[in-house]
Amino acid sequence: MKKILITRRLLKECEEKASKAFDANFNSNDELYTQKKVIEMSQGCDGILSSLTEKLDAETINKLPESIKIISNFAVGFGNIDLDAAKKRGIVVTNTPDVLTDATAEIGILLILGACRRVPEGIQGAKDCNWKWSADYLIGKQLTGARLGILGMGRIGQKIAIVAKSLGMIIHYHNRSKLSADKENGATYHDSLKSLMSVSDVLSVCCPASNETINLINKENIEYLPKGAVVTNVARGDIVDDDALIDALERRKVYAVGLDVYKGEPNLNPGYLKFKQAFILPHLGSATKETRTAMGNLAIDNIEEFFKTGNCKNRVN
Ligand code: DGY
Repeated sequence: MKKILITRRLLKECEEKASKAFDANFNSNDELYTQKKVIEMSQGCDGILSSLTEKLDAETINKLPESIKIISNFAVGFGNIDLDAAKKRGIVVTNTPDVLTDATAEIGILLILGACRRVPEGIQGAKDCNWKWSADYLIGKQLTGARLGILGMGRIGQKIAIVAKSLGMIIHYHNRSKLSADKENGATYHDSLKSLMSVSDVLSVCCPASNETINLINKENIEYLPKGAVVTNVARGDIVDDDALIDALERRKVYAVGLDVYKGEPNLNPGYLKFKQAFILPHLGSATKETRTAMGNLAIDNIEEFFKTGNCKNRVN
């Protein structure tokens, strides 16, 4: 039986599956392992089932024992893992695509609604019993007819587009390449981010974090947005230059933000906290029972497939 380090707690059903499939080394206190601890705990293991909370950079990967052959990440994103370093060490890296598309797109839509319709202020007013209905109370931005710019029209971006379109939004997107007509589903392609930004009444960041996308939403690009645009991010915090976005909120260049992900999670830039127009969530993208179960099961299946066949369809390096 292969010995697998499972760095964070999984849902019960998945831990049961893992104990049948492997000699599993669980983290029963769900402690946040440091890089040093991951290296220590993986001694004698054949693989690691990791989470986005572990930063497996080149230095950490190079110190993993020779016996580690696979890192199966419990997430679709893998910006926490240095893929090249893993490849050099002959370690296969896998992710959990598809199974979290719907849940993450739901949160993507929630961010758009929450930011456009002034949900943080509404919740505060209702809880404080400090409100009265009036024709102009908490007037927000209507989605019907507004242009939604999707940065990264992968599976999650496409699902957000379908729902947003049904709400009457007009969909634009920027991707490395133009999609086929069926995937595009009537959306307008922009071959540059600046062109997309210039038509985005609402921007939805859905692209993966990579060397190319770090701080892509920066001061220069934000200037291309129409005045009073809304910026949402359901992907990764690393894609946004927080100081630039906070400055844009301050100047009212940006009307509101909807954020589920941050640089340096679980911390977030305190600059956001002073804005009532910041609708902020604690990385809930894939947090439903169905999805977290499917992700855990897939992360386990990826390891089993790899040891059975020497490869895996969800390999990313
Ligand atoms: C992912 O899979 O990348 C999600 O952010 C996890 O919640």
